[in-house]
Amino acid sequence: MKKALTGCVVAVAALTALWNVSAQDIKLPPPQKTGGKSLMECMTLRKSSRNFDPKALPSQILSNLMYAADGINRKDGRKTVPTARNFQPQTIYVAMASGLYLYEPKTHTLKQISKDDVRKYFGSQPFHKVAPVDLVYVGDLPRIGSNQAEQALYAGNHAGYASQNVYLYAASEGLATVVCGMLDRRQLAKILKLRKGQWPIYSQPVGYPAK
Ligand SMILES: Cc1cc2nc3c(=O)[nH]c(=O)nc-3n(C[C@H](O)[C@H](O)[C@H](O)COP(=O)(O)O)c2cc1C
Repeated sequence: MKKALTGCVVAVAALTALWNVSAQDIKLPPPQKTGGKSLMECMTLRKSSRNFDPKALPSQILSNLMYAADGINRKDGRKTVPTARNFQPQTIYVAMASGLYLYEPKTHTLKQISKDDVRKYFGSQPFHKVAPVDLVYVGDLPRIGSNQAEQALYAGNHAGYASQNVYLYAASEGLATVVCGMLDRRQLAKILKLRKGQWPIYSQPVGYPAK
């Protein structure tokens, strides 16, 4: 009886997990936590590049990229990027030709928000339409605290840490990337259907360099 009950609980848990990952979501493979170029080489190679090949990134590269940007790297849920008081008030949206996604660090999944290709809203420069992946760092300002100066300062810092991780991973993998402040934040907030208090900080297209 006890065995049958345990079996039922396991089956229900598995079904619930399946239910929460819909067909359009992208369950990323586990990130590769070893290998790559040395940190000193990555810092030496880090640069902004604005010429992208439109070719899609393989899921393993996408997985490693999201791990660099916002992955959980410790058992207690802390991440590859620091946040003030570990409040983790930053989320990352990902635009690709196949749609708009929200990165969920706990399940290492890209949760589909819409099937629309919204890359053109991720920045005013033409390369946003070309790069296969475009990230935007969104700060949840009230979760930082009530002091407005701190909200802006900390949200900018959080996006800075994440974007630098992405720069370094891109350097390791030979990818092109550039962090971008030139974007219509009000318009993008509408496209992303952000809640009051959430604000796009920077975007960052990533892809193979154009040949
Ligand atoms: C906060 C911030 C905002 C930026 N915004 C843009 C941008 O909107 N468009 C762009 O092409 N580059 C942008 N950049 C990239 C800088 O132009 C670039 O980092 C700088 O020219 C130095 O080049 P490097 O990154 O290759 O060292 C931004 C960089 C930072 C740090």
